Amino acid sequence: MRRKMAAGNWKMNGTSADLDEIDALGDAVPDPGCEIVICPPATLLHRMAARCDGGPVAVGGQTCHSAANGAHTGDVSAAMLVDAGATHVIVGHSERRQDHAETDAAVRAQTLAAWDAGLTAIVCVGETEAERDALNTLEIVGGQLAGSVPDAATGENLVIAYEPVWAIGTGRTPTLTDIGEVHDFIRTALERRFGEGVGRSVRILYGGSMKPGNAAEIGAVSNVDGGLVGGASLKAADFAEIVRALS
Ligand code: PGA
Repeated sequence: MRRKMAAGNWKMNGTSADLDEIDALGDAVPDPGCEIVICPPATLLHRMAARCDGGPVAVGGQTCHSAANGAHTGDVSAAMLVDAGATHVIVGHSERRQDHAETDAAVRAQTLAAWDAGLTAIVCVGETEAERDALNTLEIVGGQLAGSVPDAATGENLVIAYEPVWAIGTGRTPTLTDIGEVHDFIRTALERRFGEGVGRSVRILYGGSMKPGNAAEIGAVSNVDGGLVGGASLKAADFAEIVRALS
């Protein structure tokens, strides 16, 4: 059985005062029925991990460089994330793919670096609105999956997040049928490539305008194993509702 996961992606939001949201989340869901990961900006990672120590909330980075160290101004390596207390890292988010021109090959290299450091990689895939309109969703998602995920995947080191780019931060979501179609497609692709055992054990999260009002129905769709949540993860009250809905 795959344990559901509620992952919060704070993106470039949050300063010291927002660390209190972590305490509020712990108070709101002291005994969560699903795995919780919060990915704050790198500046908060270490302090957040310290606050979460010993509790049910894990902490993750939002990206990592593919190299362990070196002359890469502004970047953070996977080993540095581990040193700061992270156990997970998001790689290949569409905002990274767009803003930093990250290719599938780059995301694959980052995933390998994450695994080398012992992190669980949350690899993001998803189509743009133009790609969906052109009926290319499954082709795009299949290509990203094949190109971004390295061969040594397991149910522990890999989580996939399906995030339609047009649903991120827009309040729009695909129909439940459309979500199910893509998640079933990803499951089949994982089983074909990695075998049934591994393919069935990898969690597939949905991301893109997940909120308290839709988390339960999306979480009940076939092969949806949780959510990667942006805006609605910033406030503990909202995120706690999503955690309950996914539990
Ligand atoms: P959103 O972002 O929940 O604000 O749509 C999701 C994401 O980009 O991970």
